Amino acid sequence: MSISNKQYTTDEIMAMDKHLIHAFADLDGLKQDGARTAITAAEGAYVTDSDGNRLLDGIGGLWCVNVGHGRQEIIRAIAEQLGQLDYYSTFYNLTHPSAALLSEKITSLAPGALNHVYFANSGSVANDSAIRILHHYFNRLGKPNKKKILSRIGAYHGSTHLAVAMTTPAYRAGWDSADELVHFLSSPYAYRRPDGMTEAEFLDFLIDELSETIEKIGADNIACFIGEPIMGAGGVIVPPDGYHARSREVCGRHDIMYISDEVVTAFGRLGHMFASQDAYGIEPDIITSAKGLTSGYQPLSATIISDKIHEVISGPDGMFLHGMTYSGHPACCAAALANIAILEEEDICGRVRRLGPVFETALKGLTDLPIVGEVRGSNFMMGIEFVKDQSSKEIFDAEARCGPRVSRHAQDRGLVVRPLAHMAVLSPPLILTEAEIQTIADTLRDSIKATADDMAREGLL
Ligand SMILES: Cc1ncc(COP(=O)(O)O)c(C=O)c1O
Repeated sequence: MSISNKQYTTDEIMAMDKHLIHAFADLDGLKQDGARTAITAAEGAYVTDSDGNRLLDGIGGLWCVNVGHGRQEIIRAIAEQLGQLDYYSTFYNLTHPSAALLSEKITSLAPGALNHVYFANSGSVANDSAIRILHHYFNRLGKPNKKKILSRIGAYHGSTHLAVAMTTPAYRAGWDSADELVHFLSSPYAYRRPDGMTEAEFLDFLIDELSETIEKIGADNIACFIGEPIMGAGGVIVPPDGYHARSREVCGRHDIMYISDEVVTAFGRLGHMFASQDAYGIEPDIITSAKGLTSGYQPLSATIISDKIHEVISGPDGMFLHGMTYSGHPACCAAALANIAILEEEDICGRVRRLGPVFETALKGLTDLPIVGEVRGSNFMMGIEFVKDQSSKEIFDAEARCGPRVSRHAQDRGLVVRPLAHMAVLSPPLILTEAEIQTIADTLRDSIKATADDMAREGLL
């Protein structure tokens, strides 16, 4: 029996759910009644919970449902693929049409010389794969010391052992990671730059720090720099104008490979299939993507590498000792092909370029609320940072749980928002209408006001 044929009550789901380990959750807090939400259905920009509440999906699943929920074209493509070929691998000399077609399609969309793609099933593994490939690349070039990775405070690159080592330390407090491999640079967090520093001076500081770090560690010991075009889970941090181009230039000059982690930003979120070149004017050596690649309908990621890297790893004795059983799974590739067809046929990138600024403006209108410090982001990737005081930018204590309170109030009013400590982030499906954009802004206004009232009552403001 298909589970969709049975309607479970919330109590039934929660009784079973106690066996499930939730990702990035306070496992103790989850033991409280009412702490968890079960989503049972989804359509367009909306999801429905197990109590029948219809909620506007302000986070697009998890920054991933770009073309919206319930798209029959993708669902049909997956079913047809499974009917034709349920599983075969892309190991050894094997392939299948969907993986071949998708590799051609993705590389035709990716910038310049990024002509080769390795498929896996998560953004974390896409980033792990990028690093393993680069370490192998430098070994083959006779540069076995080029292993260090430059990342940034605030970065989120995933949860596997290697990806989490490149992720900002706050995301792994109390957990271990391969720290020795990674050096962290400052976050390009302009809102919290040192007092008295202009944005232009802050940019110079960041680039100088990169150059000095390379000098200190030695370019011969550094494999790569990894960065998200806009940091997502770190609080939607938009770097100062020119940051990416200048960082890319410094890395290129020192033979340090540049990885653009486009797990969130690729496939439409910023109004382009890939943001690196079209939004920021750079051609990385590697782009990693996942999420919007299938709009979340199937787990799939792509590590897209340049001709230069591929030439070295595919030379004589070029054994590629890396692979997962489900790399390039036929159903995932079919989902991605159908998803990209929708993005293209409906010109979703053009739609984002038109409505993204409307979304930005609607949310920026919230800055008149006293606890809103900054509203930032680009197009359909936005964040709101809450402060005790707008002029001093004083931060709320973690115990005040400002972000979670806003999120709770929003959910009670029919909107799903992701809380992040003293922030809230939004990454809705890219098919939002102007009316839905306004609903999000209005609901957030009410939720932020309700949060401020609660906090004032509790003496936290
Ligand atoms: C920028 C970025 N990179 C990598 C990842 C990891 O992707 P996954 O959760 O699919 O492993 C994420 C996940 O949110 C992400 O935001």
